[in-house]
Amino acid sequence: MPRISVRACLVPDCQAATRAFVALLHTAKPIIQAGVSQRLQELRRHPFWNEDNKAYRQQNASAFTLAYSREFSDADDAAAKTVATKTDRTPVFVHILCLEVSCHVLQESGARVVDLRSDTLTQPSPAMKAAMMAAPLGDDVFGEDPTVIALQEKVAKLLEKEAALFVPTGTMGNLICVLNHCRNRSSEVLLGNLSHIHVSEQGGVSQLGGVHPRTLRNLSDGTFSLEELRQLVRGDKLQWPVTSLVCVENTHNMAGGRVVPLGWLDELGATCRALTLPVHMDGARLMNAAAALEVPPARLVRDCASVSVCLSKGLGAPVGSVIAGTQDFIRGALRLRKALGGGMRQAGVLAAAGIYALDHVMPALARDHAFVRTIARAVNALGSKVIKVDLEGVQTNILHLECDLKYVRPEQVCRRLLEVNKDEAAEIGEQVVLRAQPMTESAVRLVVHCDITPEDIPPVTKKLAYVIREFENK
Ligand SMILES: Cc1ncc(COP(=O)(O)O)c(C=O)c1O
Repeated sequence: MPRISVRACLVPDCQAATRAFVALLHTAKPIIQAGVSQRLQELRRHPFWNEDNKAYRQQNASAFTLAYSREFSDADDAAAKTVATKTDRTPVFVHILCLEVSCHVLQESGARVVDLRSDTLTQPSPAMKAAMMAAPLGDDVFGEDPTVIALQEKVAKLLEKEAALFVPTGTMGNLICVLNHCRNRSSEVLLGNLSHIHVSEQGGVSQLGGVHPRTLRNLSDGTFSLEELRQLVRGDKLQWPVTSLVCVENTHNMAGGRVVPLGWLDELGATCRALTLPVHMDGARLMNAAAALEVPPARLVRDCASVSVCLSKGLGAPVGSVIAGTQDFIRGALRLRKALGGGMRQAGVLAAAGIYALDHVMPALARDHAFVRTIARAVNALGSKVIKVDLEGVQTNILHLECDLKYVRPEQVCRRLLEVNKDEAAEIGEQVVLRAQPMTESAVRLVVHCDITPEDIPPVTKKLAYVIREFENK
């Protein structure tokens, strides 16, 4: 039976740490509510908890352990995390198994927490929130929300398409576009085997749209062979599906945020024109690609019949994506959005964040890319055999730390980056908790976004250097 357990090893006299532990249990409430709240009472009644009971704490100067457990789900079991916190004087290790730990709690423990798991983690800034509060609203299903209309017009203009449509997520944006292109039964879509649409959208195009996916082998730069594409286009045979669409992704997520080369995109456009096949662009991070190439975003989708861009990734908005294409295409997309439950009412409150992001965050994307390059160079300067970076692949706001599996696995690296020990804090000059994600079999992903400050970068590079050297010396 799956189990959730919260185990804390508390060193007496560390009041800050005990407070952090209580806060942690409280913050984790939605996950462990019932099971832990009762045990919290037990914990509070324990003599150790009595702050006046100095004699008791002195007697128990060695580690003091409390263990809690209750039944929980497999998913939580899989989310095991180890966190170490430290007070001024004594290191305190709090092991939390099967529990997502909120940054808020880690920050309470006094550590600098730099969360580089994804660019979807950003918080709307006060100015963005002010724009959301001030937005004029209406019912968007009636087509009457002025802020949504303004966002759609802005994106259509930016991408040089006839029209655009605000949708809740990138996944829904891609799904709507694929279904809109593939209206006939037996349609087939050609797409990269590592594309987000194929790998990370639950096969929605076939699950919900009856569209048959056929994959092209993604190359390391996010492209695929155009020769292979030509070969996979079906002829007219009774037994075969009908090739109806080609999808491309830019920047390419699984390729470590690489920008698909512009020359290749032009060739893809020419190839698909000759084959009379439309191209859909999953441009979740299209603005990062445009910033990296220093070209207008419209240039990257010139040959695409449709495009989906996310506002909630590098652009820092809390919610939303926009799809764009011809007037006709967007009319069809509007019907599909409604069928999928994506018709939102006073959605201008969200669209306002998107407009703010395009005006104020998009112009600063190059800053995020520069931060990533700084981190990448610092890692490679270590000359480690255990972890390195393919510098050529570092082009936007994503960085893959490539682990040599002979020495270390991505999960181990991520776990260690969450921990802080005394020597390390002394060397770095502060406690740094770095949150990262295992991305592939061998890569840890770091993603820089608009909530990362220039002051975060030196501690991040020092933390990485410390941890990499530690693995190197094991
Ligand atoms: C390349 C790419 N496309 C689409 C999506 C889906 O976006 P959403 O999470 O808004 O559904 C993501 C999300 O990470 C992505 O990286």
